Amino acid sequence: MLARVLSATVVGIQAAPIDVEVDFAVGLPGCHIVGLPDAGVKEGRVRIRGALENSGFKLPSRRITVNLAPADLRKDGAAFDVPIAVGMLCAAGLIAPDRLADSVFVGELALDGSLRPVRGVLPIAAWARNGQARRLFIPPENAAEAALVADGCAVIPVARVADLVSTLNGTGAITAVSAPPLATFSPAGNADLADVRGQAVARRALEIAAAGGHNLLFVGPPGSGKTMLARRLPGIMPPLAFEEGLETTMVYSVAGLLGGRALVRDRPFRAPHHTVSVAGLVGGGPACRPGEISLAHNGVLFLDELLEFQRPVLEALRQPLEERTVNIVRARRNVEYPADFMLVTALNPCPCGHLGSPVRTCTCSLAGIAAYRARLSGPLLDRIDMHVDVPALSYRELTDQATGESSATVRARVMEARDRQASRAGSATATNARLGTRDMNRHTALDDDGHDLLERAVDRFALSARAIMRVRRVARTIADLAGCDRIAAPHIAEALQYRVLDRPVE
Ligand SMILES: Nc1ncnc2c1ncn2[C@@H]1O[C@H](COP(=O)(O)OP(=O)(O)O)[C@@H](O)[C@H]1O
Ligand SMILES: [Mg+2]
Ligand SMILES: [Zn+2]
Repeated sequence: MLARVLSATVVGIQAAPIDVEVDFAVGLPGCHIVGLPDAGVKEGRVRIRGALENSGFKLPSRRITVNLAPADLRKDGAAFDVPIAVGMLCAAGLIAPDRLADSVFVGELALDGSLRPVRGVLPIAAWARNGQARRLFIPPENAAEAALVADGCAVIPVARVADLVSTLNGTGAITAVSAPPLATFSPAGNADLADVRGQAVARRALEIAAAGGHNLLFVGPPGSGKTMLARRLPGIMPPLAFEEGLETTMVYSVAGLLGGRALVRDRPFRAPHHTVSVAGLVGGGPACRPGEISLAHNGVLFLDELLEFQRPVLEALRQPLEERTVNIVRARRNVEYPADFMLVTALNPCPCGHLGSPVRTCTCSLAGIAAYRARLSGPLLDRIDMHVDVPALSYRELTDQATGESSATVRARVMEARDRQASRAGSATATNARLGTRDMNRHTALDDDGHDLLERAVDRFALSARAIMRVRRVARTIADLAGCDRIAAPHIAEALQYRVLDRPVE
């Protein structure tokens, strides 16, 4: 007897349907799984047998063959336990085949017959409701994410195999989850700019970065507040739109990081340690998971102590920074994850950390400082529009009781500046950081004073052509924040301040 069960897996953040065929044949008892299963799928044989026996189901002593199709797609993880078990029960005559029509099954089994959560249920639910199925059977912990998108398809959370069988046979019924329980979560936490004392220049730079989508580098001694400032960037960017949040949630679902919650509500903030591997940062690895850059999708990636990261890790950032997605080749397939993030990085000014400090003495040689800075990857630095000094605060500044502006106030200005960029470009998501060469000339025209000023700066600091482009982009954002159509000399002057690494070490 042959049984067919519909299941699905994910490639990138897209669902891919998988047909599970189970055949019972005369022969030595045993179970074979074919169709490019990985070790996790194969181990399912043990889990499934235990789960079925402990739920009181007895399978005939036959040779069982399980085929997962299409054969050229690698199947990993344990999410096929449930569809395989359902196929076995159907092939054994314990569930009628017509009961499986229009139904999709995913889930891992525990030996006691309960269902465990799996990764990637959100994309699978989005696919299922797209006319692929009328019922989606899933572990209870995945119910919230599935219900988020699955209108038109009943989401049926199943705690145990026995409940699944009785529901399918119509002898018992589990109620479908209907209204999405809005279990939202915020991967960034909620830190407010009002907590930051002093640092007027760095705060202003953060606002400009948020307004124009400019990648940013903070240079300053340990403890000056670089991490504190960076953490507050998501909170001054425009709020996450529902569709953006859904896309970010897809990544968290595929990474298995939702933990029963439904929707990413705020922009994420990710700060991987400098020991992170290439696969950890950009994605991939044996289990093919999204990396930190995709977990930061629609939010902020923060790289603290930039020079401590391994060079190949930093090099791996270039393509995603350019393309806003990352492509990983895996088992002859190209897996794509979204990776549209703002990059904030931090750096000590010199090896000892105290260069420029009014109170501590820098013990580094000029040659030592030059060698340290030379380690900055040129191509990566080329994608960072702004470098900003974050000096150590004086005791007086640190203990000042006056609170700074709140994130909400700053965000309102950022959103106005974004509106100006959007209407100029005719696209809701356009930012000055992404201005192409053609639009650049059209939109960043300078007045005469602006030209003069930029020319003098180019002469004095030997600014490269690329650096000039960056200054003009940032000046465009500064003008947008000021509500000006034309870029004037003061906007250029301010933008030039945010190029500290172009200046010689004093
Ligand atoms: N400007 C500031 N306003 C308020 N607290 C600050 C400021 N700068 C530093 N701090 C305090 O010092 C701690 C260390 O700051 P941090 O952001 O980690 O410094 P850095 O990343 O530059 O080494 C913060 O957690 C905060 O308590
Ligand atoms: Mg820090
Ligand atoms: Zn030093």
